[in-house]
Amino acid sequence: MTKVAPIDQRKADHIKINLEKDVRSALTTGLENYRFTHEALPELNLEQVDTGLSLFGKQLAAPVLISSMTGGTADAETLNLRLAEAAQEMKLAMGVGSQRAAIENLDQAKTFQVRRVAPDILLFANLGAVQLNYGYGIEQCRLAVDMIQADALILHLNPLQEAVQDAGDTNFAGLAGKIEEICRKVEVPVIAKEVGWGISQRTAKLLTDCGVSAIDVAGAGGTSWSQVEMYRAPDEFTRELAATFVGWGLPTAESILNVKKAAPEMTVFASGGIRDGLDIAKCIALGATLGGMAGQFLKAAAISTKSAMQMMKLTKRQIEVTMFATGAGTLKELQERLRVH
Ligand SMILES: Cc1cc2nc3c(=O)[nH]c(=O)nc-3n(C[C@H](O)[C@H](O)[C@H](O)COP(=O)(O)O)c2cc1C
Repeated sequence: MTKVAPIDQRKADHIKINLEKDVRSALTTGLENYRFTHEALPELNLEQVDTGLSLFGKQLAAPVLISSMTGGTADAETLNLRLAEAAQEMKLAMGVGSQRAAIENLDQAKTFQVRRVAPDILLFANLGAVQLNYGYGIEQCRLAVDMIQADALILHLNPLQEAVQDAGDTNFAGLAGKIEEICRKVEVPVIAKEVGWGISQRTAKLLTDCGVSAIDVAGAGGTSWSQVEMYRAPDEFTRELAATFVGWGLPTAESILNVKKAAPEMTVFASGGIRDGLDIAKCIALGATLGGMAGQFLKAAAISTKSAMQMMKLTKRQIEVTMFATGAGTLKELQERLRVH
């Protein structure tokens, strides 16, 4: 890895641990409990299956999101540019990782700035919602959006990750009111997102009342941040504390249904443990608008832009073939084809 200043060590550790260690949750996504009804006579031409959609004023070729991951170091900049270049080519959506490092040190802004290679993609800025209790406000949110010319702002919610790490930011009290204020003042849609433990009905209701435009459930079943923090732990106490939560969280499938039950009109993004386009198709059928992958795309981008692009192509084709074999010509029709196994 490139040499980095101590302030960015955390971000560099995250990438390294995610690439080198098994950081999967002990839970599964729950998507394995669902099957599509196969149609032997789909009455469709595969090449006319339409995976396109429009969201926040942008046109996407498929309901695929490259989930928020990185920025802040030279290696992270390379990964962001590779992912963005591939996303531009494939017309997919992408989020950058938490921009806090660049808010504190504007020299790092360029490691998040991907518009030079991806002028047209649906692009999401990212900040930790908890920072609103540590001095951040509308000014920093606007800065994050403007810095990367984002179409929307993700505020991520990671209470457990902060709680199991050494010196985490653990004051989550009174945050809803502050999120509500950002939703009211910022010029772009606000998306609330977990980081791998899912969304309950209660949280979905609270976030809806705050005025968020979408919720990314980032459920359990994939990358587990308590496992990542376990590998970063500076001592045995912190290591054991983090290890306790390997099986924590609300699985992704359950989280989608939770949001749909609490807020039927809410736009839902599904992520957390999604492996491929078939999983994304299941999430769409459960009510999501986009399916996101983080860990999977990270591994591909660590190899090359071409690998990232290959993975995106495969993901899109997997969605198309799923739709074809279930007789769904559009994403809307796909929603009627799922059954519980
Ligand atoms: C290396 C890495 C860094 C991440 N950094 C962020 C971040 O800065 N902000 C955020 O909202 N989520 C972050 N995430 C969480 C992902 O966006 C996603 O919600 C989570 O990893 C679950 O998806 P997965 O199982 O496909 O990995 C990160 C994930 C990875 C793998």
